[in-house]
Amino acid sequence: MPMIDIIAGARPNFMKIAPIIRAIQSRQQSGSNLTYRLVHTGQHYDTRMSGDFFSQLGIPEPDVNLGVGSGTQAAQTSSIMVRYESLLIKRRGSLCLVVGDVNSSMACSIVAQKLGVKVAHVEGGIRSGDWTMPEEINRMVTDSITNYFFTTSEVANENLRCSNVSDDRIFFVGNTMIDTLLANMSRLKAPAFWDKLGLEAGQYFVVTLHRPDNVDNVDQLQVILSGISRGCRGLAVVFPVHPRTAKTMQALPNIPDHLQLVEPQPYLEFIFLAKHAKAVITDSGGITEETTVMGIPCMTLRNTTERPETISMGTNELIGTDPSKLLPALDRLFAGKWKTGIIPEKWDGRAAERIVSVLEQLLGNSNSDA
Ligand code: UD1
Repeated sequence: MPMIDIIAGARPNFMKIAPIIRAIQSRQQSGSNLTYRLVHTGQHYDTRMSGDFFSQLGIPEPDVNLGVGSGTQAAQTSSIMVRYESLLIKRRGSLCLVVGDVNSSMACSIVAQKLGVKVAHVEGGIRSGDWTMPEEINRMVTDSITNYFFTTSEVANENLRCSNVSDDRIFFVGNTMIDTLLANMSRLKAPAFWDKLGLEAGQYFVVTLHRPDNVDNVDQLQVILSGISRGCRGLAVVFPVHPRTAKTMQALPNIPDHLQLVEPQPYLEFIFLAKHAKAVITDSGGITEETTVMGIPCMTLRNTTERPETISMGTNELIGTDPSKLLPALDRLFAGKWKTGIIPEKWDGRAAERIVSVLEQLLGNSNSDA
């Protein structure tokens, strides 16, 4: 019976694995013998960064939690590797499926491939070209030892072809993060603070920041937040503070006006906030995909992106990390001149179904009744 290890470690992984698990369960009900083991590495462990997503998205309890917790890049990565290796030695799966670009994805792909377990990478092939981001190293290493690539865009396919990956290993399936977005559109919830802060649709900004470049240095974070505060023309700026950012915030000399600091939000509340915002200002990659599909203007405080389709087709624009560049962008937004964008190909809510069909073919599934 083919068993797939599904690896999840950090917040952006959870919305990507949810539809894949649902699609496997649905195939099982139709007689498929595909099975899975859900492995949570424990990279993220707070309820707000992990548990809330499992309960809201109906993800089953992990079969295994490696419980690695936080650490430096090497400490965290090595700890995941040692613990996952020992799990695989006790019981190996038919395939190791990793999603996205977090340390857990890279660590588990290395361990699996060294033990002769094939690796599938969901969201393979995307590249920012920026080696200062740990995620870019994770993408490059993972993709260099991946057997099967499930991709979100034609650009990703082309990146892989340029690295000599043959077409029979590339499966252009769409975007599982968007599967989750579309599946939950009717379940979105206003956060508890909505009324208390007097928020109104289209009359506030949402900001998220967690990249080390932006948030690990007090001066840089102060400059960014002050720039946003100056440019928001008195509208509220709702800022769910990532735990990494919270550490630096404690040392911030002052919290600029209009900023409303809130806890990291559960999925349904966060998407509700983004969907009704005037614009989202972020250094996340995943959020640029979600805002593209919802048609919400998005300003990315980074110099590069691994998701160029959110710019060429979507509502996203790269502003860079110098906040003075934000002001002209905000002027265009307030003048009603932001682009509207289109939805990229196959971002239609069916990526996970496509992935599971391919997995059944690859793993030689036979219908148990057949
Ligand atoms: C990680 C991913 C990043 C992803 C982000 C989403 C890597 C290299 N980075 O970055 O790609 O966009 O998750 O959040 O894998 N912490 C808590 N509670 C938690 C988790 C973390 O307090 O549940 C704190 C810890 O003090 C930790 C810090 O946040 O040191 C950063 O966590 P870590 O997993 O190292 O990286 P992220 O910045 O979250």
